Amino acid sequence: MKILIETYGCQMNTADSELIQGILSAAGYGVAHTLDEADVIILNTCAVREKAEARILGRLTNMLPLKRIKPGLLIGVVGCMAKHLGQKLIEQVPYVDFVAGPDQYRALPEMIGKHHGHAEVRTEFDRSELYSGCSPKRPKGVTAWISIQRGCNYVCTYCIVPFTRGAERNIPACDILAEVKRVAADGCSVVTLLGQTVNSYRDGDITFAKLLKLVAQVDGIEQIRFTSPHPCGFSDELIEVIATEPKVAKFVHLPLQSASDDQLALMRRRYTYEEYLTIVKKLRTQCPEIAISTDIIVGFCSESEADYEKTKRALMENRYAFAFLFAYSERSLSIAARSMKDDVPREVKQRRLAEIIDIQQKISKEIYQSRIGQKVAVIVEGFSRRDPGQAVGNTRDFKTTIFPRGEAEPGDWVEVEIEDATSQTLKGRFVRILSKGRHPVVEEQIDVGISLGPTVSEE
Ligand code: SAH
Ligand code: SF4
Ligand code: F3S
Repeated sequence: MKILIETYGCQMNTADSELIQGILSAAGYGVAHTLDEADVIILNTCAVREKAEARILGRLTNMLPLKRIKPGLLIGVVGCMAKHLGQKLIEQVPYVDFVAGPDQYRALPEMIGKHHGHAEVRTEFDRSELYSGCSPKRPKGVTAWISIQRGCNYVCTYCIVPFTRGAERNIPACDILAEVKRVAADGCSVVTLLGQTVNSYRDGDITFAKLLKLVAQVDGIEQIRFTSPHPCGFSDELIEVIATEPKVAKFVHLPLQSASDDQLALMRRRYTYEEYLTIVKKLRTQCPEIAISTDIIVGFCSESEADYEKTKRALMENRYAFAFLFAYSERSLSIAARSMKDDVPREVKQRRLAEIIDIQQKISKEIYQSRIGQKVAVIVEGFSRRDPGQAVGNTRDFKTTIFPRGEAEPGDWVEVEIEDATSQTLKGRFVRILSKGRHPVVEEQIDVGISLGPTVSEE
């Protein structure tokens, strides 16, 4: 039987889809590359905003004809929306065959193999589940997502994630390092460490900063990225490792959400804007080449025009390399949905969002265009989907760069002279190889974007 997994939501889900593929491959299931080929279709879903769920429900509706054409086809829903809606999903979409929450993936081979015509729902949390011993099946390439923690302990009031993924659990450092060694042995040189609040990571006396240093020692690893850290507990030790460890990307995604202290308190973000700024300043002082990006929510409960203006000003002052910008979407289960009023009118949310998208786009464009004429080091990660003659990689400060491939191969560090730029991409000319990578061929294309949310701002 062949399985096709469609992934929605953040990189945690991308990593989980690879985990699920690994669990199912170990149980003897094959990989389908098209819907036609698939005996089982699994949607790995997101619940972070209403739109994310609406999109998945739309996709399920589109799949009904497939079920009719192909009797025996199984459709499963897993991930955050599966946990959020559970049994309700079966009531809404009766042809869904199985539903599994983020802690139930080990049960999937059994849920699929022993399926007897009636829908099965398994969404219980399992605080002990770290998927140790399971090997994710990754596409061949030079980049890899590595989960270092599951769940989240923060419980920001707007957020559904703690209720879909449960409490924070850290994967033992020895398991993380074994996984990094395994991907490095397979030819991967760029790893992105994933967790909802990676800097809260701890295993005995191994902090997140120490973990970065340990990963940097793994032979073959060239670039280490991570997402997302939380502004709370962003230690001086971590700032120092980012500034001084050459293999750690000079890039930090540091979600702000709002620059109004009243809003931050209502959101229970546990920092003030001033405290957030202190981290930004330290990062920029100790590591002048650092690029910083962020997440913003506008229109959260009781956000006034004055609150919003503070956030708008912060975007202009902090000059983020890029930002994921969202209008608040009330989520059932979240603390805000239970105890606050979603009282900013839709039109106001949309107006604020459109305005900051416009501001940020201009800033990003200026920042990217300021690189024109410079020669930059780029690690090659793959080839353009649209034009395989173009190589795609990233600078040390995580700016996606496209250039005619020349002699460049995935895994190489190359020098590129920047000739043009959009608000998201640098475009340039291959100058020379700086160092050869160890990996000869890449079959898969790369994904760009680094945030634990969808990788585009929403209208
Ligand atoms: N753990 C990460 C974020 C995960 S969700 C962190 O704390 O940084 C990714 C982003 O989605 C959040 O940073 C936030 O900006 C946005 N988000 C989360 N819940 C939302 C909601 N209910 N409405 C709108 N945006 C939301
Ligand atoms: Fe956790 Fe991030 Fe959601 Fe806050 S926004 S509850 S830190 S996942
Ligand atoms: Fe879940 Fe990630 Fe979405 S944790 S709710 S898939 S943003």
